Amino acid sequence: MSARFPLTRRCLLKSGMALNLAALGLPLARAWAQSTEEPRLLTAGPGEALLLPAGQPPTRTWLYDGVSPGPTIRARQGEEVAVRLVNNLPQPTTLHWHGIRIDNAMDGVPHLTQEAVPPGGTFDYRFTVPDAGTFWYHPHDRSWEQVARGLYGLLVVEEPEPAEGIRDFSIVADDWRLGEDGQIDEASFGHMMDWSHAGRLGNTLTLNGQDLLEVLIRHNAYMRLRLCNTCNARVLQLRIEHPGIQLVALDGQPVAPRPLADGYIRLAPGERADLLIHFYLEPGDTAAITEVSGGQRLEVGRFVYHPTDRVLHRSEPRLELPANPLSTDLDLANALAVELLMEGGAMGNMAQAMHHGQMMDMRGLVGKGMAWSLNGTAGMTDTPLFTAPRGRTVTVDLRNETVWPHAMHFHGHHFKVLERNGQATEDDAWKDTVLVDVRESAKIAFVADNPGKWMIHCHMLEHQAAGMTTWFQVEA
Ligand code: C2O
Ligand code: CU
Repeated sequence: MSARFPLTRRCLLKSGMALNLAALGLPLARAWAQSTEEPRLLTAGPGEALLLPAGQPPTRTWLYDGVSPGPTIRARQGEEVAVRLVNNLPQPTTLHWHGIRIDNAMDGVPHLTQEAVPPGGTFDYRFTVPDAGTFWYHPHDRSWEQVARGLYGLLVVEEPEPAEGIRDFSIVADDWRLGEDGQIDEASFGHMMDWSHAGRLGNTLTLNGQDLLEVLIRHNAYMRLRLCNTCNARVLQLRIEHPGIQLVALDGQPVAPRPLADGYIRLAPGERADLLIHFYLEPGDTAAITEVSGGQRLEVGRFVYHPTDRVLHRSEPRLELPANPLSTDLDLANALAVELLMEGGAMGNMAQAMHHGQMMDMRGLVGKGMAWSLNGTAGMTDTPLFTAPRGRTVTVDLRNETVWPHAMHFHGHHFKVLERNGQATEDDAWKDTVLVDVRESAKIAFVADNPGKWMIHCHMLEHQAAGMTTWFQVEA
């Protein structure tokens, strides 16, 4: 069989080309989620990953299906995804489908939408995926530990008509905190120093679980590159050292294609960006992937020229991502206006906050592992921050009174950023996570059209655990 593009991945696997393509770095779907009676098993358990350069020991991690990152789950837009989580971890866990406008019962939040799955237990997740785009999954119980140990994977929802002649490739970026011995630094889990400052920042950045990712690419190739930041707390500043890069989607939702302003893509924890890259590498050329959030240029991966006689396209491929079926009709005149004050952290001026119904001073809070508050409350409450009738437009004025940036994530909905520091933005993006900078404010709006109980929290996972978490309700 000749390798004419486009072939479905299924065909490729059948025709025995899998190995070849793997060598070229093509993303082989390790799993297809399908609408069948039998859910696909996804096992969370201890494992090992080769995160460090050759010759160094493997790292003991927690993984889905034994691989880092976890298997990419692929589905077509509108399809049902059925996954049976098997918990082989020594602690309870859940699966949260980040960015999916999901049926509330499948959102994976312990105590709010389900009970956590105990060690040895299973839980069936079954939901349809309304939006095409780049999403991910991760635990929502002790996520500050479980994500840091390696539990996460991508959920890619394909457009009904996949683009022709464009290679689909994903990069999952994570910073691990490893000790000298190459093992996960366990002693620092739960350290108040991290929890009250930036969160757990790692010291080893991997792309797709590798310390230096190499992606082979032929001359004159087009790629849709899906980037996902699964770091606990690091805001990544990534750059692909190649001209002609267009941003085409953020957080799983298409944006009007635009060139990357300064060549950098800034991704907060939880955020995704889809890029369209026209590679023009000549023999011997490479295009580096670099990261600069640590103050120095760190090469973390590279695209490497590789000859192949396969012509993937005849004319210039086009990537026009159709809009997803979001409620984009914001009724701002009649919106439910909510304020969300973010306080606390090191060098902040939070004197006290409510925690589990009790007013506590900073010392008392720290004793409970709390360091941050939302509207004066640290941690979850029995009653929601607000309740919205279904279909009501909600605006949330996020005010960061701390000296730390926060990646605020809303479950079950995508929102638009209307203002930053009181200035209207020109932003057309529909986001599920927004980075609110030091002492910055951001006003967002969305239509509360998904009934259920939904979390709002900082995706710097230590901040979430140390108080920056709340929830809202949308009436049925
Ligand atoms: Cu990706 Cu509530 O989290
Ligand atoms: Cu935060």
